This record gives sequence, C-alpha cells and structure tokens, in this order.
Amino acid sequence: MKINQLKPGEKILFGIFGLMLVFAVISFIMLEIYRSRLDHPMYPTTTQFDFSAEGKIGSRLFRERNCTDCHRAVRNGTNHGVVLDGIGSRKSVDYLEKFLRHPESTYETKTVDHGLNKQAAYVASLPDDEIHALTVFLSELKATQGSADARLPMRERSGFVDEMVKLWAPSAWKSEYHDLRQEAGQNNPKENH
Ligand code: HEC
Repeated sequence: MKINQLKPGEKILFGIFGLMLVFAVISFIMLEIYRSRLDHPMYPTTTQFDFSAEGKIGSRLFRERNCTDCHRAVRNGTNHGVVLDGIGSRKSVDYLEKFLRHPESTYETKTVDHGLNKQAAYVASLPDDEIHALTVFLSELKATQGSADARLPMRERSGFVDEMVKLWAPSAWKSEYHDLRQEAGQNNPKENH
C-alpha cells in the first residue's frame, strides 16, 4: 500500500506511532549515554556480601545444584524467579537451614516449588554438609538497613511513618505486635516525655 493511498485518519495514527517510536529510541540512546558517563551505578546497591570460606563453598553449590535455575543472588541466576540477595538480613540461620530441609513445615504453607514432588524437592535431600554450606552462603547475603530487602527500617526516625502509624494503625496492634523500630534502637522522642 502506498503512503498516499492511506486515509487521513490512518496517516495521523501511523504518524503518532512513528513519533512515539522515534521518541522511545532517542530516549533510550540518551539514557545509555548518560549511564556510560556516570562514575557510580545509576541505582544505589542495597545488598552486599562478604563470604566466609564456607560461604564461598555454598556460593559454588548454589550454581552447581541448579538453584540459579529459579533464583538470583550475587548477580548469578535468573530474573524471573525469587531473588535471594539480602535474605540473610530478613531470615535467621536457623530458619534458612530448616527451610532447606523441611520447606513446607518451615514456610507454614504450601510452596510453589520446594515441597514434596515439586521441581525443587531435591533440595531437601542434598547431603548435610551441602545444606549447611548453602545455609551459610544465604545467611551472608545482607541488605542495607532501610532498603526494600532489609527487615529493619532506615536508621533515622521518620516523622511521616510516625504520623501514618498514629492515623491508621488500630490500637490493638500495639499489644499484638512490637514496633521493629524499637529493635533498631529508634525510640519515639515524643514517648519519652
Ligand atoms: C524449580 C525452581 C526452584 C529451584 C531449583 C530452587 N528454588 Fe528455592 N524457591 C523457589 C520458589 C518458587 C520459592 C518461593 C517459595 C515457594 O513457593 O516455593 C523459593 C524459595 C526459596 C527460599 C526462600 C524461603 C523463604 O522463606 O523466603 C530459599 C532460601 C531458597 N528457595 C533456596 C534455594 C536453594 C538453596 C536452592 C538450590 C539448592 C533452591 N532454592 C532451588 C524455587 C526454586
């Protein structure tokens, strides 16, 4: 079909699509140029690791035992599965070892992949020393306090969060749950009259 056989409405429509495409390509190129000139990563890194000797063995097993088919950690593995970077800041060593051996009773509900007869059921039957090395590896994947991967909130006490808790948290919560910020050593200045 020749361009002058198109109806005016079609020309406008294709014109708009064409402009959007050109805009997207130019933006992408500009972003990549900007990124290549930065001397620091564009987004701050919020997870870190410092492996012990056993953690390093676990890191190797993490790849060799195909955990990377479904998980990502330390820039290895897939993006479509569960990311385990930072898990050592959210879960204890005990929990992690128990999860690897008895996934569903530890998870307290059915798992997608780790339970009996599931694709990752083999994990529970790995030899003890391998499970242990994997646990050490996982527990050494830490997250910066206050980042989305961390269990504890940011160090500074946030007035905004205080207001939100005051407005929305039912008073029963105060007796049922404890405030993680107290664990992080952040007492509310207003409560210490
Ligand atoms: C077939 C995919 C698959 C494989 C292989 C796999 N996992 Fe998982 N894993 C999952 C999924 C999915 C979850 C989320 C829980 C669920 O529903 O199964 C998970 C959860 C986890 C968790 C988090 C538990 C929690 O409470 O947050 C850990 C730790 C873990 N896997 C470790 C491993 C290790 C170590 C290996 C290799 C020895 C491994 N996984 C192999 C799919 C897999």
